[in-house]
Amino acid sequence: MKKVRKAIFPVGGLGTRFLPATKALPKEMLPIVDKPLIQYAVEEAAAAGIEEFIFVTGRNKTAIEDHFDHSFELESTLQAKGKTHELNDLKSIMFKPGSVTYTRQQQPLGLGHAVWCARHFIHDEPFAVLLADDFIYSKTPCLKQMVDAYERVQDNILAIMEVPDAHVSRYGIVAPEHEATTNLFKVKGVIEKPSLAEAPSNQAVVGRYILDSRIFDFLEKQEKGVGGEVQLTDAFTPLLEEQDFYGFRYEGERLDCGSKAGYIKANLRVALDREDLVDEVSEFIKDVHKISTQQAS
Ligand code: UTP
Repeated sequence: MKKVRKAIFPVGGLGTRFLPATKALPKEMLPIVDKPLIQYAVEEAAAAGIEEFIFVTGRNKTAIEDHFDHSFELESTLQAKGKTHELNDLKSIMFKPGSVTYTRQQQPLGLGHAVWCARHFIHDEPFAVLLADDFIYSKTPCLKQMVDAYERVQDNILAIMEVPDAHVSRYGIVAPEHEATTNLFKVKGVIEKPSLAEAPSNQAVVGRYILDSRIFDFLEKQEKGVGGEVQLTDAFTPLLEEQDFYGFRYEGERLDCGSKAGYIKANLRVALDREDLVDEVSEFIKDVHKISTQQAS
């Protein structure tokens, strides 16, 4: 029985949709309320039983390494001020020594290339990939749901959500083997960012994957695809000839924090679930709504 123990966090992208905010700050360090996106992803992986955390970073990404390390000055100041709650929060971010690895993607050539950069840390184990900017808000962490499904099928698994026709060209779209009526269904093909006419379904791949290490052999040879980038999904096609793939419809709400609107929605979503923020924020939303309807009339 194979176990998913390792996860890759590709964080080497430029985050151009968030410029100028991402000029010096990694997109994955943007906070949802008070916690950076990358920390949510790492916590999700830890909750799914991941033991080894592999970051594929790039230029201007050192803030991510610093975030997951001690900050002695800050810690001693918090200690001196008796801010134990904040101090404990900071300490809880820390990885077990030796369980985290950073490698660098020297050029942002695409997600497929970023994942391939981590090949030497995976060896021949199945592994997870988590895109921190795909924020998935759920009771049971999305990757945990997928790992549970993996224990049943022991095959490649892609997180799937249904999208409207107008959005199929933004995603990798899967072709289900049969009509996708259950939450775990076999996939016979994947096309990256198809036109509506080419799209085999409305089932879109989102940023959580469990993959077999054989994918690296195909990524090694993978040419650039849509957008001039090495696409992870393009390497699924040759792998599909050898291995099974499943689509997995997770329970939860996916908010695309790579887009501005998605990022704002994620902040509101989390704030409205927080006891310390819900009253003030919902009051504010009501006021804003009132003002915008007055302006429209
Ligand atoms: P995105 O395409 O959403 O990120 O990649 P981006 O390219 O940084 O953003 P925009 O489109 O310019 O605004 C999804 C994830 O894959 C990583 C990104 O860091 C992000 O977490 N990625 C993307 C890499 O690690 N390397 C790449 O070459 C491309």
